[in-house]
Amino acid sequence: MTQNSIELDSIADRWARDPTALLQILREAQEIEGWLPPSTLSHLARLLGLPRARVEGVAGFYSFLHLERAGRYRVLFSDSITDRMAGNLALLDHFCKSLWLEQGKASGDGLVLADTTSCTGMCDQGPAILVNGWAVPRMTRDRIDQIVELIRTRTPVEDWPSELFRIEDNIHRSDIVLGSSLEPGEAIRAAITPALRDGQTAASDSGPRATLEAIKRSNLCGRGGAGFSTGFKWEACRRAPGEMHYVVCNADEGEPGTFKDRVLLTRYADLLFEGMTVCAYVTGARKGFLYLRGEYRHLLSPLEDVLVRRRAAGLLGEQICGHPGLGFDIEIHLGAGAYVCGEESALIESLEGKRGVPRNRPPYPVTHGYLQQPTTVNNVETFCAAALIALRGGEWYRNIGTARSAGTKVLSVSGDCARPGLYEYPFGVAVGQVLEDCGAQRTQAVQISGPSGTCIDSTEFGRRIAFEDLPTAGAFMVFDETRDIFEVARNFTHFFAHESCGFCTPCRVGTTLLRNIMDKIHRGKGSQHELNQIFRLSRLLESASHCGLGSTACNPLLDTIKRFRPTYERRLESLEFEPAFDLDGALDRARTIAGRAESGEHPGADR
Ligand SMILES: Cc1cc2nc3c(=O)[nH]c(=O)nc-3n(C[C@H](O)[C@H](O)[C@H](O)COP(=O)(O)O)c2cc1C
Ligand code: SF4
Repeated sequence: MTQNSIELDSIADRWARDPTALLQILREAQEIEGWLPPSTLSHLARLLGLPRARVEGVAGFYSFLHLERAGRYRVLFSDSITDRMAGNLALLDHFCKSLWLEQGKASGDGLVLADTTSCTGMCDQGPAILVNGWAVPRMTRDRIDQIVELIRTRTPVEDWPSELFRIEDNIHRSDIVLGSSLEPGEAIRAAITPALRDGQTAASDSGPRATLEAIKRSNLCGRGGAGFSTGFKWEACRRAPGEMHYVVCNADEGEPGTFKDRVLLTRYADLLFEGMTVCAYVTGARKGFLYLRGEYRHLLSPLEDVLVRRRAAGLLGEQICGHPGLGFDIEIHLGAGAYVCGEESALIESLEGKRGVPRNRPPYPVTHGYLQQPTTVNNVETFCAAALIALRGGEWYRNIGTARSAGTKVLSVSGDCARPGLYEYPFGVAVGQVLEDCGAQRTQAVQISGPSGTCIDSTEFGRRIAFEDLPTAGAFMVFDETRDIFEVARNFTHFFAHESCGFCTPCRVGTTLLRNIMDKIHRGKGSQHELNQIFRLSRLLESASHCGLGSTACNPLLDTIKRFRPTYERRLESLEFEPAFDLDGALDRARTIAGRAESGEHPGADR
């Protein structure tokens, strides 16, 4: 037996040779050699009793898993628009030149690979990089030189100065969530003794039902983007028949410009786990998962430590808080670089050890989720808010915010402002207020809720952050007058083309075409024809995409063409028709291959 196979055996054993843990096993297996050689895939397939093609198919799906030699040091430069604005490409170029590298190719000696990656959730302290999965923020030329030297001297990453990995929380405005200071167990105890809440008497109400009523009364809506009622979701899951119920926390936070969950997970893990446990109590779940995005690898062991502490304190495991009916525990799964896995059904597929391809819906996760069992999926911030509601009641919560948007929203503010970071406001805050608070000046545009959200211009800064006006999963990206909004939109089209999972043709082909069109306009080769194509593609993507990624991919273009049309037009070679590509022909062929009608037979997306 080779050393490698002994290590692989022990990794697989630690995960009980469970095929649903395939992604976790592959991730750990990759740490042995920095990539996944064919022999490793074959060995794991044997150990888990899976077809080798399945193992390779899963490994090939995730961008942080490497099927080719990737270098002892894998250095990925975050390529969010705010990283671009902070000069990430010049730093990448400097890094590559210093080490005689070609971007995207491992060096001949197998030492280094340098490339870009989608936003790593450090927009408040970019440009950021990942080194072998570990986040290094605030890159400068000096820090690049320091890293080049560490690589030249072949210093193991675990021996690099800890200062390089220091991540700031940057909380600038707190309200009920960021200002909370719950004792561990406080919300769970309130949930299991409902008389303490809302001034009710508990005589006729069982604990879970009263807690559910409080969540429903609170009017809490999901903070992950879709804004679905949390109370209705929990109720549907509670009612759904199944052998097991599950709770899943969506900590994938892949939307460029969003980083509030990173801070909640860093500082408020107890509040989050408390919310998940309250959800388990209400829905009857005994097992929970935290799906943590791979870019937040640095949070894995601190979060594991919190879970250990909570188990020791009787806040996880059997008879939580001494309650005989409450047994629940949480397992953390790490993602591996796939934005689409934030979509809840793709996330569940990924949790099951599969490629993160969104499922057909209905059925929805509340009835057929993890292993086809009833599953509640909520965002990190939603669970944090739910814990507060369990303690302080639904009435208290719904009195904060606006009539249709209860509670507060934590915003991730980045871009052209003096104080990027986290700002928590009651719903209804005006965009202009946020701009003032974060020290933004001469602002030209704000991108609300990331590339899939809305871009507004300075005439709209009186609009409000609320489900009834500007809903947001959290991102608030500021662009001042010096920025070229066309380039912002172009960066977003590259993001969608890169992150499309390729499952459905309209999105796979459409996002690539959009990217090519934007690149063509960027090169000064576009015409009115290209703008028309964008509108046609947007109709196709919106109506025929299988999930929200495809259906929102055109948003940044439509918004910016509407509000910043001159930035497009001054790049156009002519306003005359100039076909560069037969779109209909391409799509017809693709539709025929995929056996899909033009109108699309897919259910709508969730945002
Ligand atoms: C492409 C795509 C990416 C998504 N990414 C996230 C994410 O990173 N985090 C998140 O909470 N929800 C994300 N969502 C929304 C989830 O599908 C789901 O609605 C959410 O996790 C439900 O939780 P909530 O009700 O608490 O918002 C994404 C949706 C789509 C279509
Ligand atoms: S819309 Fe895009 S991301 Fe969603 S399933 Fe289709 S190809 Fe995948």
